[in-house]
Amino acid sequence: MRFEISRGGSGMTYEIRNIVLIAKKMQEYGLKIIWENIGDPVQKGENIPGWMKDVLIDIIRDDSSYAYSPTKGMDATRQFIAERTNARGKVQITPEDVIFFNGLGDAIARAYSSIQVDARMIMPEPTYSTHLMAEVLHASFPPNTYRMNPYNNWHPDLRELEQKVRSHRAIVGILIINPDNPTGFVYPVEALEQVVRIARENDLFVIADETYINIVYNGKKTVPVGDVIGDVPGISMKGISKELPWPGARCGWMEVYNADKDPIFSRFINTILHQKMSEVCSTTLPQMAIPRIMTHPEYKNYLRERTEHYEKLSAIAYGVLKDVPFV
Ligand SMILES: Cc1ncc(COP(=O)(O)O)c(C=O)c1O
Repeated sequence: MRFEISRGGSGMTYEIRNIVLIAKKMQEYGLKIIWENIGDPVQKGENIPGWMKDVLIDIIRDDSSYAYSPTKGMDATRQFIAERTNARGKVQITPEDVIFFNGLGDAIARAYSSIQVDARMIMPEPTYSTHLMAEVLHASFPPNTYRMNPYNNWHPDLRELEQKVRSHRAIVGILIINPDNPTGFVYPVEALEQVVRIARENDLFVIADETYINIVYNGKKTVPVGDVIGDVPGISMKGISKELPWPGARCGWMEVYNADKDPIFSRFINTILHQKMSEVCSTTLPQMAIPRIMTHPEYKNYLRERTEHYEKLSAIAYGVLKDVPFV
């Protein structure tokens, strides 16, 4: 090659998936591997209930479920999502503020690659690797992070966050993950309010990855960032990979808050949208299924039972790990 063609230099790799290649090699040598399948509830043994499969069977009889969808996503589903958010009586959005992607992995990649190369996001440390890798790839520079403090129940170090955004003028936005992956921290509303205050006072936007927002247990409580965002520009990322669970559907969405209040933020959202247009659209079938599944009479109970199940598993894991040194 005439010169280096691959982008990056970040030296970052996706270890959670990389380890699979190593495990497969070890399996070839005859070693017994226990496949944990981190992050995939279905591979991990969750069963999809009959009523949900019936909803999908019904939808695949409709030819339109095989078609492209509009770039931003199916109108009826975006309307459904906007109504659900608006019904909380806090931030108000229209269907135009809802944009579908091929899973949140796609939404994350589009978001960071739409940011100018020298504008940076600040993110929690440790963090969900897809965010970290996408941000570092866009900048080809090490990440800006604030600490999730293990000595304070993994609460984000908001003082560090505030100091860094004040002193580092390249930072344009704050990422939070609520509930957090990998620490499991569930943001109390006061912590969310602090993050929004810091964003407001420093003229930043907020991205809140809310993949797990409806899977909260052990007596913890939180709210979506839309409840406290006020007039600060923000994006909530939500999806169905864990909640239904249907990770193979590759379906997640952004809810955009207050794009009309800041022309710079609005241009950023348009850049994301232009990228999406060049890809045509996102998966149609799961988008058609979302309103029907989420309003199904069985859905609430089903979600509650699964959440209770995760609570039990968390107690078992805690019981096993709590006395292990250095864990
Ligand atoms: C915090 C967080 N965000 C996003 C994702 C990606 O989800 P998707 O399957 O929608 O790409 C995951 C998956 O594990 C996650 O844990």
